[in-house]
Amino acid sequence: MIVDTLKSVMRFRRPELNAAHRRLQKAASIEDLRAIAQRRLPRGVFDYIDGGAEDEVALDRNTRAFRELEFVPRVLRDMGSIDTSSQILGREVPFPLILAPTGFTRIACPDGELAVARAAQRVGLPYSLSTMGTRSAAEVAAVSGGWKWFQVYVWRDRGLLQDMIARAAESDFDVLCITVDVAMLGRRERDVRRGFTLPPTMGFDIIWEGLRRPGWSLRFAFSDPISFASVAASADTQGSTAVDLAEFMNAQFDPSLSWEDIDWLRSLWSGPVIIKGVQSVADAVIARDQGLDGIVLSNHGGRQLDSAPAIADLVAPVADKVGGDLEIVCDGGIRRGGDIVKALALGATSCMIGRPYLYGLAAAGEPGVDWVIEHLHAGMRRDMALCGAASVAELTGELVARRSS
Ligand SMILES: Cc1cc2nc3c(=O)[nH]c(=O)nc-3n(C[C@H](O)[C@H](O)[C@H](O)COP(=O)(O)O)c2cc1C
Repeated sequence: MIVDTLKSVMRFRRPELNAAHRRLQKAASIEDLRAIAQRRLPRGVFDYIDGGAEDEVALDRNTRAFRELEFVPRVLRDMGSIDTSSQILGREVPFPLILAPTGFTRIACPDGELAVARAAQRVGLPYSLSTMGTRSAAEVAAVSGGWKWFQVYVWRDRGLLQDMIARAAESDFDVLCITVDVAMLGRRERDVRRGFTLPPTMGFDIIWEGLRRPGWSLRFAFSDPISFASVAASADTQGSTAVDLAEFMNAQFDPSLSWEDIDWLRSLWSGPVIIKGVQSVADAVIARDQGLDGIVLSNHGGRQLDSAPAIADLVAPVADKVGGDLEIVCDGGIRRGGDIVKALALGATSCMIGRPYLYGLAAAGEPGVDWVIEHLHAGMRRDMALCGAASVAELTGELVARRSS
């Protein structure tokens, strides 16, 4: 009798032999992946990824602003089939998500940019390679025939910039994404405290941290040396000398960047051009009037201007003015599929994520990136069903409200 009862209730999971998959099996949310990343990465590396500028007000508000929005769900609307598909810049995607450009991706895991580009291609989403990436455009193109965007910072050396852009075009990158929120590098105080450089240099603290995180250290030691690959491919430098990031970027990036430069960059590119880092309605209007194909509403994940507007708060006022005229990408603080639903309901046409896939990469390599994409897609589908919206076209402003308390 006891045996029968036990037999009816006992279920054993088949043991998972792959350690990365085992870690993913135990994760239920992106916050869980962040916790795993924190356990696996040396503290300085985790803080480089996770941190923001100064008091991290913008970083915190980006996620909080999504939480402060609540749904106004509708019921009894036949949710038998949910269609999350949409278009980004006129191209079909299974759901409107872009993998954001992140500098030095290989610091999270040696597979870095190549893993993220492959994961994006597998599901038909765009991947953006950063100018500060650790793989060149050609290396990414060699592993991904998917949709590829190239992100540029505007360098003082315009010849170098032109050369990087030409290489991206040769490698079939077809969207140029110009990041415009880096007149100077934001003060990331976690990096200041740790004296963090890229690549990390070997001081006592790093050796100690490396011993505490042997998995990361061994992979780092036995993988190809990391460098700023796009810069190295176009300049005389190897791009592999350890640099203080703030010093390096402030020396290389052109703070005199203006709207005229955007015109010049557009003249170099035959595909769509978008600017990333728009943080006001006024600039969204200028971008539209200049004929840009899209804007990324972004405060660089809270890594630049600390008291910047929370991106979720910016979407509706921008969409009211320029909605329908150009692509409006919502970037910063997205941690749930429901956040994508909220952004689209407010008037964004697509969303971008940075840290979530870096946590996935650090927690479990390429399968971790797959996990994040699937988690957001499933969450989007579920919240659409629970809100009574069967398609992206049905995500409208009446579906969300700001919490009054
Ligand atoms: C580690 C890290 C590196 C980044 N590097 C770049 C970069 O090279 N170029 C860029 O335009 N944005 C960069 N960003 C910003 C992301 O593209 C994106 O705007 C931001 O991560 C979105 O916020 P989220 O992390 O909350 O999703 C970086 C972000 C992180 C976390």
